[in-house]
Amino acid sequence: MNILEIKNLTKKFGGLTATSDISMSVEKNSITAVIGPNGAGKTTFFNMITAVYKPTSGDILLNGKSLVGLKPHQVCHFGITRTFQNIRLFSEQTVLENVLVGMHQRLKSHWVGTLLHLPAITREEEQAKVEAYKILEYVGLEDFVNESAGNLPYGAQRRLEIARAIASQPKILLLDEPAAGMNPKETKSLTDLIHDMRTRLNVTIILIEHDMKLVMEISDYIYVLDHGELIASGKPDDIRNNKRVIEAYLGKEASSLG
Ligand SMILES: Nc1ncnc2c1ncn2[C@@H]1O[C@H](COP(=O)(O)OP(=O)(O)OP(=O)(O)O)[C@@H](O)[C@H]1O
Ligand SMILES: [Mg+2]
Repeated sequence: MNILEIKNLTKKFGGLTATSDISMSVEKNSITAVIGPNGAGKTTFFNMITAVYKPTSGDILLNGKSLVGLKPHQVCHFGITRTFQNIRLFSEQTVLENVLVGMHQRLKSHWVGTLLHLPAITREEEQAKVEAYKILEYVGLEDFVNESAGNLPYGAQRRLEIARAIASQPKILLLDEPAAGMNPKETKSLTDLIHDMRTRLNVTIILIEHDMKLVMEISDYIYVLDHGELIASGKPDDIRNNKRVIEAYLGKEASSLG
């Protein structure tokens, strides 16, 4: 069953076509990768799914319902959250507080109640903290709970972004270059985490990534963009041997495709 259908999605910025007529089907509970050289349109694609940008044309269907025209918080409410290529944490806030922000979407408290510290609200806040702590434990950041997010090593900041994203209990998690800047050991444990989230959190994962080893190892299905166009799609083995894909990467990551 497909949870997400992308139909002929095009985004133009003035004269520049960032994505052109892209169609994709994402199976529920799959790990789907979107790859392609720099400037291929990958992040723009995520920005359209999360309603940061409105498509110039085309449609995005979540379980058959169009997301086009919704606001970003509504898309989140319908079950799609993301991490960012350029980490976007509240760096002055603690690690725990960053996760609480992600959870906020689900909390019922009205701000007046919060202001007055009404007992029911306090209880809800306490529960939220316990839950946030569990999420941090799950991603392996329990030792950093009260640290300022900005003080974390880079790899840990990427994990915290994932923690914040899963705090909203998404159906679909979009990861924009989660392994960027990570060393091989960090990348390996990220790979395990992504696998585990799919199984344990029952989430569908769409991943933009330049680390071909990770992509080939983890993906059920891969879509390849180049200059805004979908040039190939298939299982890792098909993509690895695809002539157009190798050409698109030549001089850059061609060697690492093998
Ligand atoms: N807000 C914007 N205004 C104008 N042009 C934009 C905007 N956002 C993206 N672009 C352009 O759209 C194209 C695709 O950019 P995008 O960021 O989606 O690529 P990408 O595949 O994510 O690349 P990278 O691997 O470097 O992150 C690029 O030419 C980029 O300059
Ligand atoms: Mg990008």
